[in-house]
Amino acid sequence: MNSISITDVSYQINDTAILRSVSFQSVAKRIAILGRNGSGKSTLSRLICGLDRPNQGVIRVNDIDVYKDRRAALNTVGMIFQNPDHQIIFPTVIEEMVFGLTQMGVDKPVADQRAMSYLSKFGKSDWRDRAISTLSQGQKKLLCLMAILAMEPKVIILDEPFAALDIPAQRQLTTILQSLPQTLIYITHDTAPIQNYDVAIWLEQGQVVETGSPDTVVPRFIDEMTRIKVL
Ligand SMILES: Nc1ncnc2c1ncn2[C@@H]1O[C@H](COP(=O)(O)OP(=O)(O)OP(=O)(O)O)[C@@H](O)[C@H]1O
Ligand SMILES: [Mg+2]
Repeated sequence: MNSISITDVSYQINDTAILRSVSFQSVAKRIAILGRNGSGKSTLSRLICGLDRPNQGVIRVNDIDVYKDRRAALNTVGMIFQNPDHQIIFPTVIEEMVFGLTQMGVDKPVADQRAMSYLSKFGKSDWRDRAISTLSQGQKKLLCLMAILAMEPKVIILDEPFAALDIPAQRQLTTILQSLPQTLIYITHDTAPIQNYDVAIWLEQGQVVETGSPDTVVPRFIDEMTRIKVL
């Protein structure tokens, strides 16, 4: 069981409040963060990953302060970015996959083996030496997922994972996600993929509007989104 604990977190960019006193605690395995464009979802995911420092408050995953204890955080929480171009840094598939593992302290030959085993799991062994520049946007997204899975973090944050994926790829990803033993934090403005999730957090203008079962949060969120369109 993994615990996520967000306590009174605020975050500003150039004196503009992006997140305001966000608090949330959960040991659920499937957590959804819902909100419309610009509500602060991607900002919050970067903070849960420990990539940025909150101006106020603290985020702990399994009692690890994700910003202060980077090394422990790397083993604990991984994130698939909304835009794969913000995630991928290396020119080839294998280099990208091995990098995260070596960062965690895994020896290069072991890292190479582990990367290959994840490529083969997804039927992509032939991608080993492919140049990233030859991958489509959807293929890049799959690479990001494989790279994070190879690191075997306990918690995986997925920021709009279906963006840029075609229907067969969405189906494949849905099946993969359902089978994962990890805790998933699914960031989305689309309510369909998270209907069966354990808990949903609704963010609006950087604040939590409501937290609870998607059965109650989703209908209210949809009502509000429809109302906004009408105005
Ligand atoms: N580097 C930045 N500088 C200034 N403002 C920023 C920066 N990054 C994000 N913001 C602002 O913070 C707010 C939240 O952005 P964020 O990307 O977290 O939203 P989001 O909920 O992920 O939106 P989307 O659904 O479009 O992905 C937005 O108003 C955005 O303009
Ligand atoms: Mg976003």
